[in-house]
Amino acid sequence: MKAIEIRNKYLNFFEKHGHKIIPSSPLIPENDPSVLFNTAGMQPLVPYLLGQKHPSGTRLVDYQKCVRTNDIEDVGDNRHLTYFEMLGNWSLGDYFKDEAIKMSYEFLTKELEIPNEKISVTCFAGDEDCERDMVSYEAWKKVGIPDDRIYFFGKEDNWWIAGEEGPCGPDTEMFYDTGKEKCSPSCNPSCSCGKYVEIWNNVFMEFYKDKSGYSELSQKNVDTGLGLERMTMLLEGKETPFDTELFAPTMEKLVTLQKVDLIQSRRIVAEHLRSSIMIINDGGVPSNVDRGYVLRRLLRRMTRHLKKLGIDLNVLPEIIETSIEAIKELYPELEFNKKLIIKVIVDEKDKFMKTLQNGEKEFEKVVNRAKELGKDTIDSEAVFNLYETYGFPSEMTIELAKENGLKVNLEDFQKLFEEHQEKSRLGSNQKFKGGLASTGETETKYHTATHLLNAALKIVLGNHVHQKGSNITAERMRFDFSHPSKMTDEEKQKTEDLVNSWIKDGYDVYITEMTKEEALKSGAECMFVEKYPDIVTVYSIGDISKELCGGPHVKNTSELGHFKIKKEEASSSGVRRIKAILE
Ligand code: SER
Repeated sequence: MKAIEIRNKYLNFFEKHGHKIIPSSPLIPENDPSVLFNTAGMQPLVPYLLGQKHPSGTRLVDYQKCVRTNDIEDVGDNRHLTYFEMLGNWSLGDYFKDEAIKMSYEFLTKELEIPNEKISVTCFAGDEDCERDMVSYEAWKKVGIPDDRIYFFGKEDNWWIAGEEGPCGPDTEMFYDTGKEKCSPSCNPSCSCGKYVEIWNNVFMEFYKDKSGYSELSQKNVDTGLGLERMTMLLEGKETPFDTELFAPTMEKLVTLQKVDLIQSRRIVAEHLRSSIMIINDGGVPSNVDRGYVLRRLLRRMTRHLKKLGIDLNVLPEIIETSIEAIKELYPELEFNKKLIIKVIVDEKDKFMKTLQNGEKEFEKVVNRAKELGKDTIDSEAVFNLYETYGFPSEMTIELAKENGLKVNLEDFQKLFEEHQEKSRLGSNQKFKGGLASTGETETKYHTATHLLNAALKIVLGNHVHQKGSNITAERMRFDFSHPSKMTDEEKQKTEDLVNSWIKDGYDVYITEMTKEEALKSGAECMFVEKYPDIVTVYSIGDISKELCGGPHVKNTSELGHFKIKKEEASSSGVRRIKAILE
């Protein structure tokens, strides 16, 4: 069964069971500066898992584009992927364990036609925080999974939380038995020998964990995740995701182009290329910080492995096209962005090749020096110098050092690297500030008006509203913000009235300096956390608004005149745009 059929079957099945299909959020989270990419389907839904009303109701189904890069070094084996798609169905305080399990079972056995004997499941064994999950156990028995294929495990296996804090709960996981021999008599679904492949996770999110421990959520939710690549692999009867339709065309293309036969390198190229394509498609650009750096790492690692395969780098556009072709059915928008994607990747490859040329000599020197001194290790200063002056990512230096029989001492590298990142953040903040600082009197007024508008929208529409961008000229202001639907006339009127009442009441605008941490803790709004240096300026307007901002602003809101919304329209998925004037 093809990936697109699996996805469609999934969406249709849950739609038939009362779920509303909602679109995938972009890979780059819209309102969550705490993570670089969406790493799970639940991430964009956190506010709703915590109790906020979702505009599409309490039963949702979607596919979510995800990137996880903590295992980047493992890519090249037969299973790790940095990009994957997660199919998920959601109950926001609606159905719970029984119904979720019933639907999962029905989907697997009726829609995907997986025989009952192929399915094993695991449930939470219970501990001091939460009781043994006998409800799931009974539900599995009821649909026909026998006792000897129901396992109980503790938190390490059957508890789900994204990171350290947040909504969480026990889960029940479904495994596909590949039919391989058990690796030992005690082999079970928690074993990584490859006999059992995890295919679906139903998380019963009923708790919230913070530093002080677990508390109950106001509602009991279901969060499920089914990995599309893995399911495609199983249903196509393939051993690895690289053998499926999603990667095979790229892998085969690489075989026709390569001079050296290295399967790991082919997998790394195919995998990193696909992730990069998806990240660029959602607006990512390579850089030296945060998301941009992840993309840069992926692209540079990919380029290095292309070189290892002995592939002429001038054919890269062809490889990108093949790679896009393989997943175009899933993501038709790639066709529109193809030119841009190719350009970003090829430009980065060119930059990297220059870097390599300049740095290779320096690298040789470092290696020779170490050898002359009889050392088996390259020190962190040298690694950092290669990074800063020649653009060698540290992981590449490590890989190259290994090839030369040397180790790398990274003890102080992290410190040097963080100092460097801080400097480049400062740099981008200056730029950010600069763009706004070149403002005249009218622009300054508009600038203050954006803060008022931001605050008013939160009151009228809800706390999910966050600034996604703004643009100011002497004639008008434009303000982009997260909100799923068109504003009604009444909402627009209310927003206008609120802003005008604040103007009329004449609030003073204060500026304070504090550390970024303090600012965020105090609840100050901020568009992109990583754009700001450690010490930030915070502008407050009465107790109406508090935002991290470079200014400039008026002294008192009474200077603004009369605020009027001229237009409210869609900007991009989940983002609305307001054009407004001061008269
Ligand atoms: N949040 C769970 C996971 O990522 C289920 O969607 O596995």
